[in-house]
Amino acid sequence: MSVATGGAVEVVRTEPALREAIGRARRGGSRIALVPTMGALHEGHLRLVDRARERADFVVVSIFVNPLQFGPSEDLDRYPRTLDRDLALLEERDVHLVFCPDVEVMYPPGAGAVAVVPERGADTLCGASRPGHFRGVLTVVAKLFGLVAPDVAVFGRKDFQQAELIRAMVRDLNMPVVIDVAPVVRDGGGLALSSRNRYLSAGERETALAIPRSLEACARAFLAGERSVPRLRDIVHRGLERAGVRVEYVEIVDPGTLDAAEVAHVGSVCAVAGRVGSTRLIDNVVLGGMLDTDGGDVEPVG
Ligand code: PAF
Repeated sequence: MSVATGGAVEVVRTEPALREAIGRARRGGSRIALVPTMGALHEGHLRLVDRARERADFVVVSIFVNPLQFGPSEDLDRYPRTLDRDLALLEERDVHLVFCPDVEVMYPPGAGAVAVVPERGADTLCGASRPGHFRGVLTVVAKLFGLVAPDVAVFGRKDFQQAELIRAMVRDLNMPVVIDVAPVVRDGGGLALSSRNRYLSAGERETALAIPRSLEACARAFLAGERSVPRLRDIVHRGLERAGVRVEYVEIVDPGTLDAAEVAHVGSVCAVAGRVGSTRLIDNVVLGGMLDTDGGDVEPVG
């Protein structure tokens, strides 16, 4: 089934319709980029789309809230779903094809005999409090790669652990796709854009600004010569706790392995997760530089 939106973007909901549209693009000689999303699109997603357009002739965006990556007590049911608005935004950005399958299309009855299970790097950071999350992410991303067969797939670095595990999957399973990871997009206050930011009240958003500020303080301390992991983590911890962010983790890790760094070095990543009210937020900074600044002037929404 293919759905007309009144503009240039083609919307498909089934595997045969997707394969047909991809086949047409391939026969026309197009290089294909995929931007996987769960919808509730914000400027961060749209920057991924722009990046995909620079790297390919034919841009596919998938919109699918993947139940497999949500734990039983997580926000699957209340995860924002804004399909009409998402399609309008993608049309403005000249996306060629949107794949928005129902759950039964991605996980038909009888499916589930095989999943992609990460062997390393999935039980630290976000994985420590979200068991099975990255199994769900890798499984759906592998399925999307199987369906779309993109030349390149674009992900955001806000989800740093996710991006590293996807790179590892592609490497270890010899998947013929280039993984491109884009900088974090922030609003004017520095808060990393996330679909979950819309849950924050104005006061909670103020509190949440402690996350980029504490990461920035850590990055500055590193640039000033601090290499002690406990002291750098402490800078972030104290900044978050003072503001009222409930810290889930503050870790400094080596990006390739996601192992805790013994000593911080250029390229180590300081990653945090914390709760403001009931909203869980994540962010990170690569030491040796400052916070990503891509999008410092975007609206503080979404
Ligand atoms: O980052 C996300 O939005 C999701 O984890 C992804 C990659 C689309 C898989 O469902």
